[in-house]
Amino acid sequence: MLKIENLKVYFKTDLGIVKAVDGVDLEVHKGERFTLIGESGSGKSVLAISILRLLPKNAEISGKIVFNGKNLLELSEEEMRRIRGRKIAWIPQSQSSLNPVLTVGFQSAEPMIEHLGFDKKSAFAKVLRIFDFLGIGRNRAKDYPHQFSGGMRQRVLVAMGISTSPELIIADEPTKGLDASKRAQVVGLFRRIEDRTMLIITHDLNFAEKLADRIAVMYCGKIVEVSPAKEFFNEPLHPYSKGLLDSLPSRGLKPIRGFQPSMMNPPSGCRFRERCEFASERCRREPPLFNLNGRSVRCWLHD
Ligand SMILES: Nc1ncnc2c1ncn2[C@@H]1O[C@H](COP(=O)(O)OP(=O)(O)O)[C@@H](O)[C@H]1O
Ligand code: SF4
Ligand SMILES: [Mg+2]
Repeated sequence: MLKIENLKVYFKTDLGIVKAVDGVDLEVHKGERFTLIGESGSGKSVLAISILRLLPKNAEISGKIVFNGKNLLELSEEEMRRIRGRKIAWIPQSQSSLNPVLTVGFQSAEPMIEHLGFDKKSAFAKVLRIFDFLGIGRNRAKDYPHQFSGGMRQRVLVAMGISTSPELIIADEPTKGLDASKRAQVVGLFRRIEDRTMLIITHDLNFAEKLADRIAVMYCGKIVEVSPAKEFFNEPLHPYSKGLLDSLPSRGLKPIRGFQPSMMNPPSGCRFRERCEFASERCRREPPLFNLNGRSVRCWLHD
């Protein structure tokens, strides 16, 4: 469905080159909920935005992003516009991406009119069904974004995302800024959308545990582990993954020492080595992704 090969996204800035995504290989399978986790600033959003080719001008991108057999990086802007919204939906991190002067029903109908050639009436009829399905309620379709709570606005963004029946849904931090009960609602919401492939980005590990089929961990622009979710939460392989889980309140609240290094001057070798309690001489060389029984991990301990 989606295969990313050696993806690099570098930003040119006045201070130097920010290597936000630095050689990422990933595969998202049809029908799965694939979840990308990692601390803030690890390159998750940049990775997602590059799939949609919505990167800012100062970005340089290389590698391959193959979606249904086509390398998205080779498509024209026109071809890409047809894929965005229609085949690949984007549920953004910010609820401020809703237009304040249009009703939520109108905004949710728009992608169907634009991408699928629906007339207004049938698009609106489908919106009402989706609003019922997602627990927004069809009676709210004529309301404006400011009349909704944060949790409800999140649902509206999901409604907009799924209205065109996309093949792949990418959601960036769908629980950001929501309280615990709202987060639980988003879990329920995403579980309801069963037959779709999803790439979900989150730094909320509890959310990831409830939802993910597979987990990928990103650290400082690189993928350091990919594992089935159950195995990941039972026995994380990478020391950074262990650190993330140990820092959860339910697992001891032990923070990872130190800070994520700068993406302008990351350490040579393993990027985690300055924070890793298992670091040794060999970690000065960069570890490849080792494959073990359907899992992969970028750490010399698993050589
Ligand atoms: N337009 C940009 N120019 C320069 N650096 C950027 C730009 N956008 C993002 N970055 C940098 O890329 C890195 C990864 O950011 P991001 O993908 O947003 O992290 P995450 O989503 O994991 O929190 C950060 O260091 C961020 O500052
Ligand atoms: S490669 Fe070395 S420094 Fe990096 S995570 Fe593994 S043990 Fe730690
Ligand atoms: Mg982000």
